[in-house]
Amino acid sequence: MTAPEAELVWVPAASAIAREAGGRLREFFSQGVETEYKGDVDLVTVADRTVEKLIRTRLAEAFPEHGVYGEEGTRDRMEGEFRWYVDPLDGTTNFAHGFPQFCVSLGLEQRPPGIAPEQDGTIVAAVIYDPMRDELYTAERGRGARVNGKPMRVSRTAELAEALVATGFPSRKRHDSPNVHFYHEFTLRSHGVRRAGSAALDLAYVASGRLEAFWEFNLNPWDTAAGFLLVEEAGGRMSDFAGGPFRLNSREVLASNGLIHAELVGLFKEMFAGRDLAPIPTPREFAERRALRTEAAG
Ligand code: IPD
Ligand code: CA
Ligand code: CA
Repeated sequence: MTAPEAELVWVPAASAIAREAGGRLREFFSQGVETEYKGDVDLVTVADRTVEKLIRTRLAEAFPEHGVYGEEGTRDRMEGEFRWYVDPLDGTTNFAHGFPQFCVSLGLEQRPPGIAPEQDGTIVAAVIYDPMRDELYTAERGRGARVNGKPMRVSRTAELAEALVATGFPSRKRHDSPNVHFYHEFTLRSHGVRRAGSAALDLAYVASGRLEAFWEFNLNPWDTAAGFLLVEEAGGRMSDFAGGPFRLNSREVLASNGLIHAELVGLFKEMFAGRDLAPIPTPREFAERRALRTEAAG
């Protein structure tokens, strides 16, 4: 059951902050921004930095005791009981290219006193805002998940063969990622794999039932903290690739509607054990067949 909105503790203030931040992103997006490189294809813009600064200020006003851990470098009050994981702009590459798929992501962790720095607390609140569609995804632990105030649930699709799924690829050390093999296999076994470029929105889409599953290698806590709670509160599951508990620093993410989770974990297990990929023609084989067809058509 989704609890009445009036009972929510952190979501109302965090939603106002995410909406203001999203409004700034929309302005930057319409003006166009210059892009800098953090790594070989890892981009950052003035929008990422300005909006992180805005969120940092607003969180400090609304929740003066809370810590803030932001992608663009904010590390405030890291000893406190509460800590916000902030991605001011998830989908920077899209944003920089004028591709309208990006969001603001805010996830709140509660850390019991004395917890070791490397241990996870509990994610207790989540807000993801898509400023281009004006869609606000929210959740508090034990109180259900919502999109624009309406309760949301994961989909009821029970088989990968009938699922629409999503993934993403890293913008650093791209040659170390095996993900294209998983992309290959999932493409042949599902209704399709989307690679839309915002991990936080991908997770929000699993929570809202638009996607049955999402996976990615090498994500960071600011990408996943809010989406994790949305997925769980909407009735889905999120784990590592072996089906073990999801951790903020585990880097790997496998999220689903729950119903297809065991099938996905099984597929990951088989692939990691060396099972061959479903065969498709190599470019050369394809070219040879094409040449034969052209010749036959004369
Ligand atoms: C990226 C996006 C993308 C994912 C990358 C992330 P950023 O975040 O979520 O979808 O594939 O791994 O780094 O850099 O745009 O905040
Ligand atoms: Ca991100
Ligand atoms: Ca970002």
